[in-house]
Amino acid sequence: MPATNEQLSKYEKIEAIVKGFKLPAAAYKRAMTLLNQELNNGLKSQKSNATVLSMFPTFVRSTPDGSEKGEFLALDLGGTNFRVLLVRLNGQEIDIQSKTYLIPQTIMLGTGTQLFDHIAECIGKFVAEHDLISHQLPLGFTFSFPCHQEGLAKAKLSHWTKGFRCEGVVGEDICQLLHEALKRRTNCKVEIVAVVNDAVGTLMSAAHGDRNCEIGIILGTGCNACYMERLDNVHTWNKEEKDFQPKQVIINTEWGAFGDNGCLDFMRTEFDREVDTFSVNPSKQTHEKMISGMYMGEIVRLVLERLTHDQLLFRSVDRECALFERGRFYTKYVSEIESDTDEFFRHTKQVLDDMQVENYTTEDCKIVKYVCTLVSARAAFLAAAGLSTLINRLNKQDMTIAVDGSLYRFHPRFHNLMCLKIKELVKPGLKFRLSLSHDGSGKGAALTAAVSLRLRNLKNVEENGFTQPEMVSVKA
Ligand code: BGC
Repeated sequence: MPATNEQLSKYEKIEAIVKGFKLPAAAYKRAMTLLNQELNNGLKSQKSNATVLSMFPTFVRSTPDGSEKGEFLALDLGGTNFRVLLVRLNGQEIDIQSKTYLIPQTIMLGTGTQLFDHIAECIGKFVAEHDLISHQLPLGFTFSFPCHQEGLAKAKLSHWTKGFRCEGVVGEDICQLLHEALKRRTNCKVEIVAVVNDAVGTLMSAAHGDRNCEIGIILGTGCNACYMERLDNVHTWNKEEKDFQPKQVIINTEWGAFGDNGCLDFMRTEFDREVDTFSVNPSKQTHEKMISGMYMGEIVRLVLERLTHDQLLFRSVDRECALFERGRFYTKYVSEIESDTDEFFRHTKQVLDDMQVENYTTEDCKIVKYVCTLVSARAAFLAAAGLSTLINRLNKQDMTIAVDGSLYRFHPRFHNLMCLKIKELVKPGLKFRLSLSHDGSGKGAALTAAVSLRLRNLKNVEENGFTQPEMVSVKA
């Protein structure tokens, strides 16, 4: 049906508002060049003030070899939920039992002591419920925030992200805080063996069954990536330790902060700037705010608000309705809306009802869906550009990338959009596979703890000719 003049000018006006989300390939290539420079800057020993990527060496230097065994506790803290897991490893066989506990907002914004006491109490209950009080349990802790690691079980929080702001934790060793809380609140016999970022856990979990996996990425509430780097390139790594095998270490890039020095401003829209201004951490996590689930819904909401205000969407709408409330348009709505494939717009209508929008037309539904597709495609393409930078950097013929996170899991097109863009951006001939890592955070933390104990035993055998008693599987 040919568009009338009135419609044409309406569509032109809509296009003018959303055009910032339709970026040419050259913009993504420019982002790749910039990201690569930032990755290199972050690995330098002398960092300038403009260095934004933390590039934390994680002290995880080996991926699992499949022989890991034993009984482990794992913790997963990084969003509104906190999980405690009991992981039993026996080669490729893994048995996981877990329980999820809520972290109330009052605790997310309270004191560090309250947070760690709450965590310790949950662990205490879990251990009692599973009749494990007398077990000596090694623990792997997935803590999904930027931490400067000084050892596998020594990690100082650099800053909070994703809406957390507990007082008295920044600059502190989170293992120590957990250890003290466990002593205060429980009588469990737990040894904290490893603390890992969720991207690292995801990589470790996938690498357990796939030796080609050297990159892990999280696309959830937050966004981050890690990869296996050669020690020679890591100038922040202690020289003496460079002689130890293997000559590699997983780097937690903390690429959510990419762009915090303004280098991504050329691709940000007025809506990105507004999301940033009203966030709990303005001017921080620029890249993350353009990609991840914590912000995507709000970007869409701001565009819809603007279109409504300019009378390009929804003829009559109550100014008091939820659509005009900050933070009320969840990213899961974007996934639901984009899963509508016919002219009935079942999910879109459901969301608009939730948003208390009345009297919408089918054309309104089309426009709402269009906005969602543009915002999510930019996020997927930007994540793909980041991944392509890492794939090109590692330059391996065949590469598996472990992916986890609610955005990637539940958005109907994210995976396909990413694959499409990566194919366009990686060096010709490099093959890649995006593989969903199941329970990366829980299984990954337990595996990291297991690998560390395996290597600890190996070192003892090399140095002293004995194996430590197998504390990984002591049962009373
Ligand atoms: C944190 C990362 C984390 C990512 C995904 C970001 O906000 O800084 O450490 O890996 O979220 O959870």
